[in-house]
Amino acid sequence: MAAALLLPSSVPLSQPIFSQDDYKKAAAYKAVEFVQSGMVLGLGTGSTAKHAVDRIAELLRQGTLKDIVGIPTSKKTYDQAFSLGIPLSDLDSHPVIDLAIDGADEVDPHLNLVKGRGGSLLREKMVECVCKKFIVIVDESKLVEYIGGSGLAMPVEVVPYCWKFTAVRLQNLFEDTDCVAKLRAVGDDGEPYVTDNGNYIVDLYFKKAIGDLKVASDRILRLAGVVEHGMFLDMATTVIVAGELGITIKNK
Ligand code: 5RP
Repeated sequence: MAAALLLPSSVPLSQPIFSQDDYKKAAAYKAVEFVQSGMVLGLGTGSTAKHAVDRIAELLRQGTLKDIVGIPTSKKTYDQAFSLGIPLSDLDSHPVIDLAIDGADEVDPHLNLVKGRGGSLLREKMVECVCKKFIVIVDESKLVEYIGGSGLAMPVEVVPYCWKFTAVRLQNLFEDTDCVAKLRAVGDDGEPYVTDNGNYIVDLYFKKAIGDLKVASDRILRLAGVVEHGMFLDMATTVIVAGELGITIKNK
């Protein structure tokens, strides 16, 4: 079910006064309206989730929210939340999470996601698969017809040991989609990107739809050397999309 909520109507929509970051912020602030005092919260990672963390900290400072415990999904989010004074913990101490709020790279019509272009997919999945409610916040550019449909990467976290071997096996798994597997690199000298968990990321680029996503997920996870992939299937309970026409809330 989708509910539309328009951004201020006094603003002519023909004028591009809202930037992509404004939409991210609008989606994030809407999601934080679902946060209640006393909750254990999964704190997402990325430029959209950052707005949600800022807003939670602001409401804590104002006293509107109380007794929140945050479970960060990356070192970067830990640093942001810690610096803002949000009380933090981890899954060992809080194995059940009331609500997680996080961004996504792709959202399909069934609310399946691609996440991890920011590199934090493993911790994000560990946190978001144990939450009672998972609200995904995106600007409308993240909506796709099918997973992989943006033409951008679907990340897979792999162990560094013989990563080339694992990348080739991943690419071969999806040869019917003309898949290309590339190691994620950083800097001018192409050093491998290293995740918070000390692993590498192999980005998969699909040229065609990958078919049954659950089958694809199982095949990837069965490969020795793979730690986790960035398809988040049947996990989002709500997706909040902000765009030119306002805010839309889609519930599973
Ligand atoms: C990080 C993620 C992010 O949530 C995803 O990349 C979206 O990021 P942004 O909000 O910056 O567009 O999965 O691992």
